[in-house]
Amino acid sequence: MADLDGNLDAKDFGIGVEQESAGFHVKGAGQLDFGMKHRLARVFRADGKTVMLAFDHGYFQGPTSGLERIDRNIVPLAPYADALMATRGVLRSVVPAGSSNALVVRASGGPSILKELSDEHVAMSMEDAARIDAAAVAVQVFVGGEHESRSVQNMTTLVDEGLRLGIPVLGVTAVGKELVRDARYLGLATRIIAELGAQVVKTYYCDAGFERVTAGCPVPVIMAGGRKLPVPDALEMAYRAVDQGAAGVDMGRNIFQRQAPEAMIRAVAAVVHDGATAADAEAMYRDLSGGASD
Ligand code: R5P
Repeated sequence: MADLDGNLDAKDFGIGVEQESAGFHVKGAGQLDFGMKHRLARVFRADGKTVMLAFDHGYFQGPTSGLERIDRNIVPLAPYADALMATRGVLRSVVPAGSSNALVVRASGGPSILKELSDEHVAMSMEDAARIDAAAVAVQVFVGGEHESRSVQNMTTLVDEGLRLGIPVLGVTAVGKELVRDARYLGLATRIIAELGAQVVKTYYCDAGFERVTAGCPVPVIMAGGRKLPVPDALEMAYRAVDQGAAGVDMGRNIFQRQAPEAMIRAVAAVVHDGATAADAEAMYRDLSGGASD
C-alpha cells in the first residue's frame, strides 16, 4: 500500500536523462517491427516530435463548434500538421485521399455526451485501419472511470491486432470530471497504458510534475489540448509540455476554434519543432493572423 500513499517525490525518474531508443528516433520503438516503425516515422518527424491535429470530437459530441464543416475549416489546416486524428467516417467522406498526413484513426466509441462516456467499445477493426492506411489508431482508456477495465481491454485488443498488422496504438488518458488531472493520476494512467502495450500515449499537461509523467512513461507522451484557452496560455502550455518531455501535441479546439486557425497551428508547430518560446509563437500568431484577438 505504501506506493499509493504520498511517496511520488521519493521516486527517481531520472529527469533529464534520455531513455535509450535503440537507434530509432521514437521513444521506446527501437525494437519494433519495420511496419510499426515506418508508421511511427510518419507520425513523428526526425526530431521525435509531432504536431497532431485532433478533430475526432464528433464521434461522441456531434458537430462541435469549429467542426461543423470539416471540409471548410479543417482540410485547409492539414498541410501544417504532421498527423491528423479523425474518425474513419470523416476520413472517408471529407479528408482528401491525396493528403500526405499520417492518419491516426479513432478506434473506440459508443456512448454520446448524453451517456456515461467510459462505456466505450472497440469501434473499428484493424483490417479497416489497414485499409484506410492508418499510421496509428486511437483508443480512450478511462483509468479510474466506471468502465475502466473494459476500456483497458478495448486497448489491449487493439494492441494485439495492431502487433499482428504493424499498426501502432495511441492510448488516450480519458479523465472523467471526478478525477484530478495531477501528476500522480496522469503518471498512473500513462504508465498503465504503456505497460499494457500502447506504442504512444496522449495525456493532459499538469502544472506540477509533468516531467515525471513523461519520464516515467517508456513510450512517447503527446500533450492533449483540451478546452480552448487564451492564445498565450495555450502556447505556454505547449511550450512547457515539450520542454518537460512531451513528444509533441495533439490539439483540437485550441486550434480550430480560433479566429485564425492556420496562424495558430503554425505557431504551435514553431513551438514543437523549431524551439520557439511561447512569446515568440504568440508574436507569430498575431503577425500571421493580422492581429487576431483570440
Ligand atoms: C479526446 O481525447 C478526443 O480524442 C477528442 O475528441 C480530441 O482529441 C480532443 O482534442 P482537444 O481536447 O484538443 O480539442
